Amino acid sequence: MTAPVKVVFEDVHKDFPTKDGDLKVLAGIDLEVNAGELVCLLGPSGCGKSTLLNICAGFEKPSRGRVTIDGEPVAGPTSKRVFVFQEYGIFPWASVWDNVALGLRHLPKKEQYRIIGETIELVGLTGFERAYPMELSGGMKQRVEVARALAVSPDVIYMDEPFGALDSLTRLTMRAELVRIWQQQQQTILFVTHDVDESVQLADRIVVLTDRPGRIADVVSIDLPRPRDLGSAEYGSIKNRLYELLGVSHSV
Ligand SMILES: Nc1ncnc2c1ncn2[C@@H]1O[C@H](COP(=O)(O)OP(=O)(O)OP(=O)(O)O)[C@@H](O)[C@H]1O
Ligand SMILES: [Mg+2]
Repeated sequence: MTAPVKVVFEDVHKDFPTKDGDLKVLAGIDLEVNAGELVCLLGPSGCGKSTLLNICAGFEKPSRGRVTIDGEPVAGPTSKRVFVFQEYGIFPWASVWDNVALGLRHLPKKEQYRIIGETIELVGLTGFERAYPMELSGGMKQRVEVARALAVSPDVIYMDEPFGALDSLTRLTMRAELVRIWQQQQQTILFVTHDVDESVQLADRIVVLTDRPGRIADVVSIDLPRPRDLGSAEYGSIKNRLYELLGVSHSV
């Protein structure tokens, strides 16, 4: 059985006005994302990835075309759809527990405690509930950010290079963790990256964007079983294909 369609981009264009005329950033994006799918948006710097995600999240309006979620046009940000940013969005003055609690204030206390405890466990931070962000490593802070997003039971999660500021080993761990959590929870995830490895490790499908103005160069399905063997021949050939689509040579 195929999952229902969740997010639909229809002929999405975006121009930003500048003093030298309009800057064309997105030029006709058509895409369907299924419920529970983990889709990576991969493309060179400045091609419009963040803009596309911001339009989907309702922070920006398309100049032409539209995005619908569950058949409804996106009108603005909602609490069921959350953003995980690269720069730490957590509050430095609040403990891990209180950071995760922030989106749950409307719930009865007992319900809040249950969700916060479960979410902190899910991201592997049990024992650090009372710690403050300054006492945590970069990877742990990013786990708090992920926990804060997951706590509100979102159905769509937008991630804009969320692990970009982490060192390469922590980044690998966080990708594995994200896949583990997503397999348990099955939210729809739109994940922006310019990292080819990251996209192949994570995605069900990779949407490869061209240079600005961003168009879809191709959509590559990744059927490799999880956990993925980063040394396998299939993995290498998918990466080669992606580099080709991006028009870059990866031999130096
Ligand atoms: N609010 C804005 N006003 C004017 N121009 C903008 C605005 N937001 C983005 N741009 C321009 O649109 C283009 C695409 O930006 P965007 O941030 O979407 O790229 P990106 O693919 O996410 O790049 P990166 O990989 O570097 O994050 C850039 O040239 C940027 O300068
Ligand atoms: Mg960006």
